[in-house]
Amino acid sequence: MKVISITNQKGGCGKTITAVNLAGALAKQGKKTLLLDLDPQSHATFSLGYKNYPAGKDILAVFDNILQDAPITPQNYILERKENLFFIPSTIELSAIEQELSGSKYALEIIQKFTSSLPAADWDFVIIDCPPNLGFLTINAIRACDIIITPVDISAFSLLGIDNLKKISSVMLNHNEKDPRQFYLITIFDKRSNFSKNFIKTINKHIPRGLLKTIIRNNIHLREAALLGKTIFEHNPKSNGAKDYSRLAEEITQKTKNINAVEFSLKAPSAQSVFLVGDFTNWRKDERFALVNKNGIWKKKVNLKKGRYRYKFIIDEQWVWDKNNPLNEDDTFGSRNSIVEIN
Ligand SMILES: Nc1ncnc2c1ncn2[C@@H]1O[C@H](COP(=O)(O)OP(=O)(O)OP(=O)(O)O)[C@@H](O)[C@H]1O
Ligand SMILES: [Mg+2]
Repeated sequence: MKVISITNQKGGCGKTITAVNLAGALAKQGKKTLLLDLDPQSHATFSLGYKNYPAGKDILAVFDNILQDAPITPQNYILERKENLFFIPSTIELSAIEQELSGSKYALEIIQKFTSSLPAADWDFVIIDCPPNLGFLTINAIRACDIIITPVDISAFSLLGIDNLKKISSVMLNHNEKDPRQFYLITIFDKRSNFSKNFIKTINKHIPRGLLKTIIRNNIHLREAALLGKTIFEHNPKSNGAKDYSRLAEEITQKTKNINAVEFSLKAPSAQSVFLVGDFTNWRKDERFALVNKNGIWKKKVNLKKGRYRYKFIIDEQWVWDKNNPLNEDDTFGSRNSIVEIN
């Protein structure tokens, strides 16, 4: 199961259209997909035509349940849309939940707790539509996800925003239990305009890594589908919108196939800080690879491609190997490196 959050603090860049139609495309390609509307504006909920749904089957109920420390039963909230496509609606009342959450130790971990409660072997993708800000709901999504997709529409403000977003998200990812991959998706693209052509050149400079090959063209059928409460595949499966989102689903499936979340953990009740260093950090201590302390057990999930990696922990400035891992080798400095192999 891979959790994808669709995030950009800029409004109107195609987050909701992407969340809804990427979910639709993945489901059509046989991937069991859950779309989660985490925006109090509830645009994904309206885009799928949900005006009336059974009481208590929404994301607010998930928050209430977890805040009350009640056992999580995901099937209580999930609506079945069609084969392989499942949905949890949002509601405007979600905007008021932040006050209720203040003081709760789980405030930023609600969605992570929810996605962890899903039986991972049963699901292929969870897609989260985020609101247009980097507030606590978006942080909740980022804490829970393996992949961030940032839609970038063709406008001068997008370019201004990307650099800020890169800075902010690297701060947000510090001390995160997971280390999500970040991808950028060009949306609402009109190839006829010169501005758009130049935009592509400029964007390659702004985003040297993670720019997806798929480009989502400006397509009126995508707008129509949202107004009619349908995915593009239900509304016009032959449109360019349907073709682009099918392509995106294929690219995402391909790109995420090789991403494996590997959990590193260590018991160190008296430690003040624990960092992971290794081949994947270029042996540099980096805030992004700080382990998170949960009752003396320090944890970090890192997304790694197939391969063999050497690593160590830094416990309060002291470099140590992972004594719980039988795989290790001489580090040529008189100590050992631990080894993780992903086949
Ligand atoms: N590829 C596209 N072609 C044509 N119209 C599009 C396309 N993508 C999005 N739109 C339209 O642009 C508007 C903004 O899209 P959308 O609601 O997906 O953005 P958003 O980033 O989710 O906005 P918000 O920040 O308010 O949540 C909508 O009217 C939508 O129908
Ligand atoms: Mg939206």
